Amino acid sequence: MKSVKPVAPDRLSELLRRMPKAELHIHIEGSLEPELIFALARRNGVALPCASVEELRSAYAFTNLQSFLDIYYAGASVLLKEQDFYDMARAYFVKTAEDNVVHTELFFDPQTHTARGVSMETVVKGLHRACVDAKAELGVSASLIMCFLRHLPEEDAFETLEQAMPFCDLIVGVGLDSGEVGNPPEKFARVFARCRALGLHRVAHAGEEGPPGYIWTALDVLKVERIDHGVQSAKDPALMQRLARDRIPLTVCPLSNLKLCVFPDLARHNLGELLDAGLVATVNSDDPAYFGGYMNDNFTQTFAALGLNAQHAYTLARNSFEASFVDESAKRLHLDRLNECFETFR
Ligand code: ADE
Ligand code: ZN
Repeated sequence: MKSVKPVAPDRLSELLRRMPKAELHIHIEGSLEPELIFALARRNGVALPCASVEELRSAYAFTNLQSFLDIYYAGASVLLKEQDFYDMARAYFVKTAEDNVVHTELFFDPQTHTARGVSMETVVKGLHRACVDAKAELGVSASLIMCFLRHLPEEDAFETLEQAMPFCDLIVGVGLDSGEVGNPPEKFARVFARCRALGLHRVAHAGEEGPPGYIWTALDVLKVERIDHGVQSAKDPALMQRLARDRIPLTVCPLSNLKLCVFPDLARHNLGELLDAGLVATVNSDDPAYFGGYMNDNFTQTFAALGLNAQHAYTLARNSFEASFVDESAKRLHLDRLNECFETFR
């Protein structure tokens, strides 16, 4: 790894903001800000349980993952038309471009929408059109990762995959999200094997709240290429060695972990420990509209809380490109721009 010039503490947040980076763990439904939820509810004639944006925001006090998911799925109920999916993704792209995110891989949860009678075509076409425009108008490249909801049966995931088959070339991979504890990765062994045979990339949430054993089975049974969250790996030294040896990226989401009480405060987050152990950790926003921050908020707040430095910043940004599903030539270009940013930063 390149060695980076030290940067004065009062200049570090500027470097964090300015450096080009990739975001690999963002649920696009989790970027739906309360203002947009209300605008879409009005446009679509959907009744909401809250009277105002302020009332909705005040409900965003979570005690664990499930307490968040209940509110998150309710928020997604305003999404009905292709244009709604476009508008949601567009709003995210505008924000993330301001944070110098130059590449992003978006999770989406089709089952949240198909269960309400919204077609897979509506969801995928709206999101894909926003990805195309983000590249052309904002310079942000983007691809889509379709997530299966793990609290539902594997048969439902198979049905979802079937519905997605006509749009397979618009999806770079599949993921696994929703309530983790009690829904281990191996529940989805067959559908992930099918996705692998189809040539789709594979990722899974594991070790967010769940035990290190779920990370082992995500790797060994689902054959995932990245672990989403993975912060519980620090409890298992053999797993840490495996993740470091095989350079399995972790898409860590510090503000999410804070808001969902995975860590009692940011100063107790284990991102520094994961990096020191040689793991390919990255920083991501998860559900920024719900957790109080987009990419640069995650970087600046976590660096301040943990006392991380410019070398950590470089490693995290570099990891984000290396862990992405872009081709080798695009990776090289991103890394060249990253190096240039660090070499010219004063
Ligand atoms: N869906 C949206 N955000 C999630 C998270 N942090 N964990 C699991 N499923 C999710
Ligand atoms: Zn997530």
